[in-house]
Amino acid sequence: MGKAVRLDKFLADAGSGTRSEVKKLIQKGKVMVNGSAAKRPEQKITEEDEVSVNGEAVAAAPEFEYFLLHKPAGCVSATEDAREKTVMEYVPSKRKGLFPVGRLDKDTEGLLLITDDGALAHELLSPKKHVEKTYFARVSGIVTQEDVLAMEKGVDIGEEKLTLPARLEILRTEQEAGGGMSEVSLTICEGKFHQVKRMMEAVGKQVVYLKRISMGPLTLPEDLERGECRPLTSEELEKLKSR
Ligand code: URA
Repeated sequence: MGKAVRLDKFLADAGSGTRSEVKKLIQKGKVMVNGSAAKRPEQKITEEDEVSVNGEAVAAAPEFEYFLLHKPAGCVSATEDAREKTVMEYVPSKRKGLFPVGRLDKDTEGLLLITDDGALAHELLSPKKHVEKTYFARVSGIVTQEDVLAMEKGVDIGEEKLTLPARLEILRTEQEAGGGMSEVSLTICEGKFHQVKRMMEAVGKQVVYLKRISMGPLTLPEDLERGECRPLTSEELEKLKSR
């Protein structure tokens, strides 16, 4: 906590109750600041102060929250939507100001970072930073070495310029009577609308399933089930901040 905040806000942010609930706790003399019963909800608290409620120490809320969601298909990457389920419904926090860092399409699964740290989000999303994102895709058709080379050079997805060099890896191909299918991994360092789908289309393939595996130093943990959302570990956060 960098600056002084009102006691009632400090307590509400720390999860001790709503603003009106914590005001009542203060009135009842249940809140102590540095060993004396607090009387005013507007009293200013800094990181030096020791605050307790009902005799239990209250730790200040962290400045920002960071969550890793294994986004399932069927929800949109937005904070609010009048008609659709949003990714925020999976986040185990009531903190205001949380938002998804970037977008995955409604039918895309995989790693999505949710935070209220705007500066970090900006770092990750800025086109100048070229943060790598790796996707697993199942596509119709047989992906070839020519496609790998085309992705390395950049493909035309109808933008002003070709896409930046991307790494395409062929994981599996299966010939079928109707033309076959392939599983690939594609690593890109841009974030244009429907980028992976459009890049695969540029080499004549249609994405039928898409999952984000990594973003910068963050990787989707194998034990994080679809729809599960957990706080970043301190190691993940450190890697993210020191990149
Ligand atoms: N590229 C896409 O086409 N869709 C996504 O959801 C993410 C990247």
